Amino acid sequence: MLWVIQLNTAIMKIVAIICLFVTVFMLSCAQLNNEKLSVDNSGVTAETRNPLSDTDSAIAAGQPLFVTNCSTCHGPEGKGDGASGLALPKRPQDLTSDDVSNMSDGQIFLVLKNGKMRDGSMTMPPIRRLSNDQMWQIIAYARTLKNARVSERP
Ligand code: HEC
Repeated sequence: MLWVIQLNTAIMKIVAIICLFVTVFMLSCAQLNNEKLSVDNSGVTAETRNPLSDTDSAIAAGQPLFVTNCSTCHGPEGKGDGASGLALPKRPQDLTSDDVSNMSDGQIFLVLKNGKMRDGSMTMPPIRRLSNDQMWQIIAYARTLKNARVSERP
């Protein structure tokens, strides 16, 4: 019987060591990810222009990204009337409004990356899963909402 107990203890130790390694690995991944995010952010200021020069293909790529990442809150036409948006304490901005049209590309980028703080609480969460290029594509598409009619949209 003793060897069974000893074997069990040995297995437990191995499992514990594996768990430890997995935890350390996951923590270091999270760390790397954070560093990448902050490095990504640092280059962009309010003055930064949308770096994607091929506007037409940026708009085309931005449209489906807008639908999956923004329209739940901002609505399919960006009017601020998405289903989840209606439940928020601070209503999502109308992206076709003059206020948003007058924001620079860089300002919008920073809102997407950092989220929006108002009076000490976060009113819009940061968009985490997208690459910088995808952010710029969404911004290119969002600019078209002001003038486009629904029937003309891709
Ligand atoms: C969870 C809901 C939610 C999602 C998803 C969301 N937003 Fe927002 N957004 C808000 C809210 C709420 C505000 C209003 C914040 C405020 O005025 O304090 C806002 C404000 C904004 C503003 C105006 C910021 C300013 O400084 O006035 C822009 C531009 C914007 N959102 C763009 C986007 C884009 C583009 C996406 C998709 C990538 C997106 N949002 C996704 C909720 C959301």
